[in-house]
Amino acid sequence: MKSISLVGLICIWGFGALALENGLARTPPMGWLAWERFRCNTDCTNDPENCISEKLFMKMADLMVSEGYLGAGYNIISLDDCWLSHNRSESGQLQADTNRFPNGIKALADYVHSRGLYFGMYEDYGTLTCGGYPGILNHLETDAKTFAEWGIDYVKLDGCYADPSEMDRGYPDFGSLLNQTGRPMVYSCSWPDYQIEKGIQPNYTFIGTVCNLWRNFDDIDDSWASVSSIIDYYGDNQDTLIPAAGPGHWNDPDMLIIGNFGLSYDQSRAQMAMWAILASPLFMSVDLRTIRPEMKAILQNKNVIAVNQDELGIQGRRIFKKSGVEIWVKPVQPSLGDNRSAALAFLNRRTDGTPTRISIVLRDAGLRSASGYKVQEMFDGLDLGIYHPDNTLTVVVNPSGVVMVKCTILKKKSFVSKKKLIGRYSSAGKISIP
Ligand code: GLA
Repeated sequence: MKSISLVGLICIWGFGALALENGLARTPPMGWLAWERFRCNTDCTNDPENCISEKLFMKMADLMVSEGYLGAGYNIISLDDCWLSHNRSESGQLQADTNRFPNGIKALADYVHSRGLYFGMYEDYGTLTCGGYPGILNHLETDAKTFAEWGIDYVKLDGCYADPSEMDRGYPDFGSLLNQTGRPMVYSCSWPDYQIEKGIQPNYTFIGTVCNLWRNFDDIDDSWASVSSIIDYYGDNQDTLIPAAGPGHWNDPDMLIIGNFGLSYDQSRAQMAMWAILASPLFMSVDLRTIRPEMKAILQNKNVIAVNQDELGIQGRRIFKKSGVEIWVKPVQPSLGDNRSAALAFLNRRTDGTPTRISIVLRDAGLRSASGYKVQEMFDGLDLGIYHPDNTLTVVVNPSGVVMVKCTILKKKSFVSKKKLIGRYSSAGKISIP
């Protein structure tokens, strides 16, 4: 999400069926979301540093700026569940838990804005949130207005305690009400996820005109097994999911868990690479006070983020899957005529202890430009040389790890032959050439 402006909102209002499109999130939104790491910890008496409270969000906002996350593109900080009081105010408005958010949500939003960040809200379309706090059902208009008054920039609307068959009406209704406030708010929906759970096939074409992003699969948790199951879901369902994604409307495979307890260094690179290839929203859910420098470096890697944020907004495709090895391709800019550049992820799902050599002829990844490609490894920025469509690119990939490259199309044919380089990546991120 490079910028939030009203321009798109105004332009698109004229177009009947697309009237709900709000012009936001032209690239996948990036930010910090509390849920995966901090969950529904409301015990500020025994755990004041980690409970869901304004203090926690203010601290994370400070660190987003001072530690360079904002500079890298992460510009939203968002509440998740368990911020609410169990009761609405006498006038029927939502209100925050007064012990944990003594200054209220407007003051917190102001604080976050003063740091140059956008502020995100969590609510639920049903009668209750998943954690059992008041939902928005029967209060849609009031709550949309409240969010605008508070200065909310992003709304994650969950779907617990609601009827999934009603969501085709309810989510668009709330989206319209958000738009009618005149305040641009990115709209994150859980609508397809709850429909799929109930055996309803989501209408992604329609959902994409209403929501800027949407969940469609299980909640992520702190393990490689969880990350792997999401990658499998996206590969197995790619023919449905890829056409649904594009500028302004993204599939959301859920938060980045890099820097927590469950992923090794290689697995962390793998999650980052895959979320970039999938044109996924990048929401970190990690304790920014204690994150290790090497994990922070993965989250802030400029090359990988640039692939995620590529202006074409094309979600990548799994083109090869065999014996624990996968190759994924995402078309990116620059283009030359009909030919595009591409980012490739070589993902090694094997756990048999030694790195695996993976090769591909560029043409088989759809890279057909006779002018050739400059090939660069993304995490360490290593130049791998010039390759032509019939050249074979070989990389060596650590167990449960990834090698990610970008093949940038050359404008003029280059006769410099490819360097015989094979990157071998140790868990310290160093490269040796065998
Ligand atoms: C659901 C969502 C999660 C999180 C929790 C909060 O499970 O999918 O992302 O918001 O609710 O209770």
